[in-house]
Amino acid sequence: MDKLIITGGARLSGELRISGAKNAALPILAATLLSVKPVSVGNIPHLHDITTTMELLGRMGVRLVVDEKMNIEVDSSTITSYEAPYELVRTMRASILVLGPLLARFGEAHVSLPGGCAIGTRPVDIHINGLIKMGANITVEGGFIHAKADRLKGCRLVLEQITVTGTENLLMAATLAEGTTIIENAAKEPEVTDLAYFLNAMGAKITGIGTDVLVIEGVKSLGVEELHYDILPDRIETGTYLIAAAITGGKVKLKNTRPDILDAVLEKLVEAGAEITTGDDWIQLDMHGKKPKAVSLRTAPYPAFPTDMQAQFIAMNAIADGVGVITETIFENRFMHVQELQRMGANIRLESNTAICTGVKKLIGAPVMATDLRASASLVVAALVAEGSTLVDRIYHIDRGYDHIEEKLSQLGATIRRVPR
Ligand code: EPU
Repeated sequence: MDKLIITGGARLSGELRISGAKNAALPILAATLLSVKPVSVGNIPHLHDITTTMELLGRMGVRLVVDEKMNIEVDSSTITSYEAPYELVRTMRASILVLGPLLARFGEAHVSLPGGCAIGTRPVDIHINGLIKMGANITVEGGFIHAKADRLKGCRLVLEQITVTGTENLLMAATLAEGTTIIENAAKEPEVTDLAYFLNAMGAKITGIGTDVLVIEGVKSLGVEELHYDILPDRIETGTYLIAAAITGGKVKLKNTRPDILDAVLEKLVEAGAEITTGDDWIQLDMHGKKPKAVSLRTAPYPAFPTDMQAQFIAMNAIADGVGVITETIFENRFMHVQELQRMGANIRLESNTAICTGVKKLIGAPVMATDLRASASLVVAALVAEGSTLVDRIYHIDRGYDHIEEKLSQLGATIRRVPR
């Protein structure tokens, strides 16, 4: 297993290009299954989860061609299987995203149940119940979801909880259903919105995009000639590099990103003492060499503060001035980074779903272990400011969601290297 060795102390500075959003690329690649014509998708990030998705589609018989710029052309007309096997689903829960498209277009899907996960139980009942309401026949047997339907039927779905991939699965399924589907209490995350725009580009009829009520008028088939669609920039990658700069008292300019989808994060960085300037597609953060001030926040669905940035803010609070109180409301077990940060000298107390962190003067490098994607990112940013060297183990989690992290951080002046297994 690869590891990262990071020597703290460098104040980050410079410019960086942000990659396409993992959590938009995954549903959009799944949505290509709906198209009767080949589709080209661009601004795809170089990530392990993308490779897994390509393997998943490839094993179904879908033809994929990747060029040197990471544009992927997908042609699902060669499909031979409607199955997402356990060995792929267990490495990437987002494989569940093929359920809706397979069922809607081919009338059949067999998707392994994702099972437990490092950040909580994460059931998929809302995905399944929504599809049943649309007329699917679903059984769960032998660890698999087996779904069949002639043609799904539009209906009104009121989601009992806001779910990102749940909304995406039902949205994709509804595009080919007979009649109109209304999804209420839908997730409004920018990645859901990007998927909806992509579906419309393929010929779907979705309105209410960006709101919590999506209205989908089903069509008979999807697919247009020569469609190319570029994925939106990754707001979580953007936020992570902003924190990396803030924690080191640095100054960075991030390009090819979208400040308008990062309001809640930018607001907290300003509260931490950062000077933020933005343009249409760039964000600059300048700490003027100062230490950050501790911030308090609560995670919640978009447009509120994202759970995927919680761990990185705890890392920043660890060395900030004052006390920061961070409450996680989306996942019940998303504090695995806290114990590792404590091993680096952080003063954090956990009370149920809240982390109370009193900033310390310095963190000290230690061997630490990543447990999930964003937890790993928090350990890397903490290491950037720690005294001495930190060895971050199990970084396959990072490779799932951060495009060339060591190269990008090196570009900003960090001392970081990957050591192969
Ligand atoms: N939930 C249910 N039943 C369901 C679905 C969800 O109870 O059928 C619960 C979950 O257990 C959780 C809450 O609803 O408590 C919200 O979970 P959601 O379904 O929104 O999460 P997700 O769709 O599985 C996506 C992202 C996550 C991100 C969350 C929240 C993708 C591929 N994944 O997960 O990203 O944290 O939304 O914003 O889009 C990451 O990138 O590191 C990551 C974990």
